[in-house]
Amino acid sequence: MGRRLEGRTAWISGAASGIGEGVARLFAAEGANVALLDLDRGRLESVRRSIAEAGGRALAWPADVASDSAVRDSIEGAVAEFGGLDVVVNCAGVVHVGPLHEYGEDAWDRLMGTNLKSIYFSVKHGLAHLRRNARSYVVNVGSISSLVGQAATPAYTASKSAVLGLTRSIALDYASIGLRCNCVCPGITDTPMLRHHLGSGGDPEAALANRLRRVPLGRALTPEDVARAVLYLSCEDSTGVTGTSLVVDGGYLAAAEWDPA
Ligand SMILES: NC(=O)c1ccc[n+]([C@@H]2O[C@H](COP(=O)([O-])OP(=O)(O)OC[C@H]3O[C@@H](n4cnc5c(N)ncnc54)[C@H](O)[C@@H]3O)[C@@H](O)[C@H]2O)c1
Repeated sequence: MGRRLEGRTAWISGAASGIGEGVARLFAAEGANVALLDLDRGRLESVRRSIAEAGGRALAWPADVASDSAVRDSIEGAVAEFGGLDVVVNCAGVVHVGPLHEYGEDAWDRLMGTNLKSIYFSVKHGLAHLRRNARSYVVNVGSISSLVGQAATPAYTASKSAVLGLTRSIALDYASIGLRCNCVCPGITDTPMLRHHLGSGGDPEAALANRLRRVPLGRALTPEDVARAVLYLSCEDSTGVTGTSLVVDGGYLAAAEWDPA
């Protein structure tokens, strides 16, 4: 089978770490030119370099995805470098743990800017380029929190629910130009974000083991597990799929009542 993204250009946010890094590496291996945006300049450059060393074409754009002008400039930079834009993957995200009444307004706005408003920016600025292709793709990384509640993360859960709503809206409004927009909803995925999140309560290994008892597959997902779902929705393997979500959670949400034998 040929490489699925040969000659395509993908803009990927949050590409310095975890799931976004997994998407960047998989897309490059599938033949895509990848334009990588992240706040973390050092890690982003090391991802870019290792993709280039493996024979891929990557552009690193250190920037804040919550900035309208930074997203615009990074997309224009990608188009200038690679000659077009086919795929937008919105993966940058942050989590904030704490009760709602203790949130500062800044923390709320910061999280919403990163997890939600960034998608508006990327589609707004990507559209002029995406619409030049007969087919184009937007994939938003939501969460199982797009579909169910999660304790002690009200802004995160609200943002991820909104990501799914925005996904549907984009899918409806731009279907006529050949754009498909979908959402991948990961469960427990072993990334620096997960480690950070689990570490806030004391013993991260014990916290992870405890959570995995509720996952039928019995393991944390890898960034590549999630990246494969993003790839599926970013090419013609998923022709006919738009405005929906693909849950990649090892069976977690299937188990309202489940007795791990
Ligand atoms: N890890 C999980 O279990 C899990 C589960 C469900 C959903 N997700 C979602 O997957 C996505 C990726 O998470 P991850 O686990 O790979 O986390 P991660 O922390 O490993 O990676 C997130 C990346 O986003 C970048 N980022 C954060 N704020 C940014 C900003 N303002 N501008 C630009 N870049 C910024 C970070 O620097 C980091 O490189 C997030 O949207 C997250 O909500 C993760």
